[in-house]
Amino acid sequence: MRMLDLLLRKRCGGEHDFKELKFIADGAASGAIPDYQLSAWLMAAFLNPLSKKETADFTKAMALSGKKLDLKGLKGGRVDKHSTGGVGDGVSLALAPVAAAAGVIVPMMSGRGLGHTGGTLDKLEAVKGFKVRLSAGRVYKQLKATGLSMFGQTAELAPSDKKLYALRDASCTVESLPLIVASILSKKYAEDITGLVMDVKYGSGAFLKDFKKSRELAVALIDTAKLLGIRCVAVLTAMEEPLGLAVGNGIEMEQSINILRGEKGPADFMEVLEVLSGWMIHLGSKAKTPEEGMAKARAVIADGSALEKMRQMVRWQGGDVRVVDNPEKFLPKAKLLTDVKAAKAGYLVKMDARTVGHASVVLGAGRARAEDAVDLGAGLILYRKVGDRLVPGEIIARLYSSDAEKLREGRKTFESALSTDLRPGKKTKLIKEVIS
Ligand code: URA
Repeated sequence: MRMLDLLLRKRCGGEHDFKELKFIADGAASGAIPDYQLSAWLMAAFLNPLSKKETADFTKAMALSGKKLDLKGLKGGRVDKHSTGGVGDGVSLALAPVAAAAGVIVPMMSGRGLGHTGGTLDKLEAVKGFKVRLSAGRVYKQLKATGLSMFGQTAELAPSDKKLYALRDASCTVESLPLIVASILSKKYAEDITGLVMDVKYGSGAFLKDFKKSRELAVALIDTAKLLGIRCVAVLTAMEEPLGLAVGNGIEMEQSINILRGEKGPADFMEVLEVLSGWMIHLGSKAKTPEEGMAKARAVIADGSALEKMRQMVRWQGGDVRVVDNPEKFLPKAKLLTDVKAAKAGYLVKMDARTVGHASVVLGAGRARAEDAVDLGAGLILYRKVGDRLVPGEIIARLYSSDAEKLREGRKTFESALSTDLRPGKKTKLIKEVIS
């Protein structure tokens, strides 16, 4: 097979079969196909989008470019969750233990924060000693013993995605829906899951801001997952303002552990947590309906079994288990802080999620570039959300950083995210649609 022939076919709008797509994915992973031909093919596939069958075949081919996990020896449904990313979206930290406590096997593969969005792996690493780089054998053993593991992508898992994503980034071809779908699902297919719950965000802080585009992505993800034999649901959630009250690694971990400890969580965060939990539990065949799944989710939080799952995971992955009983004491919090207060009476009508995400990066909680280090104790706690009444002098948010200059700059950025008015304004509906 010659890459030149495949390139010509795609350039002219022709279709590839699985063998050809496997040749491309393997060539990307091994380096056998040069970057200039891969980039040219990506542009051809951007202009002549992959068909549904090609997308499913390419997803499979990308997954098979590396080593696939084999979890078939585990009894029961194996369900993961993927979020397209947001600000304050630490839902996975509570969701994974909840679904596992309800009896679902949860291999949750997560990523790191980049740009304005946070990453689950960084949040988990706020727990001292917690390891996210696990071998396939270790993941299997932990899942067999506890039903839960949260880990990062290994070099063997869908290696073609790393190469192709970098080339898409450099060739203006990231926004192709079939290529996005293949990229996301190749990593999920390689995990050997039976079910997947997708949280597809839209709005200012989302990967795709436009609702219609996000919906198209959700539908394409579901279509492809079904062709691959994965039961899939997509929940379309607004990301106009940060989710919950915490933005930052240790800060978000603390919020999630406190919810598992039975504390009343922020209403928007709890709504997303319960809906996603309900679906994970349903797709994992531990509830007949998502509603029954939601009731089970509430029950495993109330009886402490979800917290116990979190404890087991922290112990298995080498973390300091004292965090589970005393998160405030054992999670990092940066030493310097500043309060942003309401200057005048009125209502908070906007807290732009993307700008708050950028503020958290400036404070040190996130990364502008993949190689940057993060300050696990930096971030912010919100005391007011969009729609809330403001009383002069009351705190809107408390910002944390380890560096005085970053704190000053982060504050400036955060303040630019806020708009106030004398009237409350209209609040966006949080969960706009569930597509299954
Ligand atoms: N997330 C991914 O993993 N891949 C994409 O292409 C876009 C978002």
